[in-house]
Amino acid sequence: MADESKNRDFSISETYRHNLLTFQEIRTRNPAMIECLRLAQEAALHDLPIMILGENGTGKNLMAQAIHTAGKRADRPFVAVNCSAIPEPLIESELFGHEKGAFTDARRIHKGKFEIAAEGTLLLDEIGDLSLAAQAKILRVVEYKQFERVGGEETLETKARFITATNKDLRELVAGGLFRQDLYFRLRGFTIEVPPLRDRQEDLVFLVDEIIEESNRKFGKSVRGTSAGALRLFRDYSWPGNIRELKSVVSAAVIVEKGDELSEDNGSFGVLRDGLAVGALPAPRAVEEDGVYTMDQMEKRHISAVLRRTGGNKAQAAKLLDISRPTLDRKIAKYGIGVDGSQAD
Ligand SMILES: Nc1ncnc2c1ncn2[C@@H]1O[C@H](COP(=O)(O)OP(=O)(O)O)[C@@H](O)[C@H]1O
Ligand SMILES: [Mg+2]
Repeated sequence: MADESKNRDFSISETYRHNLLTFQEIRTRNPAMIECLRLAQEAALHDLPIMILGENGTGKNLMAQAIHTAGKRADRPFVAVNCSAIPEPLIESELFGHEKGAFTDARRIHKGKFEIAAEGTLLLDEIGDLSLAAQAKILRVVEYKQFERVGGEETLETKARFITATNKDLRELVAGGLFRQDLYFRLRGFTIEVPPLRDRQEDLVFLVDEIIEESNRKFGKSVRGTSAGALRLFRDYSWPGNIRELKSVVSAAVIVEKGDELSEDNGSFGVLRDGLAVGALPAPRAVEEDGVYTMDQMEKRHISAVLRRTGGNKAQAAKLLDISRPTLDRKIAKYGIGVDGSQAD
């Protein structure tokens, strides 16, 4: 029956159904954040695209879920795609799907995220990390609501509402030729800028208390609060990873705390002290993930990242890096970087 297949299309696959959150779960006492939530709640009721901007860990995903849950599409799928996690050659098939036999491994029809999102919400997360080639492909869907599965003839239509999120400064990317201006204007719709935790001092203490309580329950501890010294550390730190980082630092501190309250010299606070010197500078991601790199390794990574962003366009990459084309070619050869920016490590 038609109705049945309709239902199946709308069923949310496990991957996307992590108990979608609501606005009640976004906790804040900060005026700028309250205003931001007010805007998001208003935007949730309309079908314009929504763009959520903010540093890592500020709650962009949370907000996208809350918008979905608060809107007319709440009983439809919520599909989140992390654009930075899909390898370039797979992007088309991930987003648009593919037909059986479209390429060697395509043994059956595969539905893409646009199709799975159906009449629900599609969150294109980390949109600032998409290559220019992928941006061009997405533009058509956003503009004309139409797409084809890879290897398919039939033109499919999307009725999904689009939410995009990124920690990148998209305007800067547009100015630098790394993000299509037409796509940027299409997606901008309502723009919601989530403030970083360091600008939300009103939130720090009660969020810490909530995390302590949750960690007490989870780890069978009975920490009762935070010492003045520890709070000072929290206030002085820049929290480049925002609430995600706060959660991990505080829950680790609860686990190792021997006293009644989180003390200043709790072993898990070392990172906060070391971080003070860099102040508000967000930690470069490569260092955050894997430890310390040599200058050569950093250069290799940086060139690779820029090449990936330009979709392998070396002229554009050289311009962005502010080096000559021959210098870029020499470095590419030196580090064994692939044309598409892939790194042979
Ligand atoms: N206002 C908030 N109150 C409580 N928890 C929050 C809040 N904002 C973010 N979090 C938590 O912080 C973590 C990071 O949030 P997330 O939405 O994934 O951030 P982003 O997508 O901006 O990187 C998640 O565990 C989320 O539940
Ligand atoms: Mg996120």
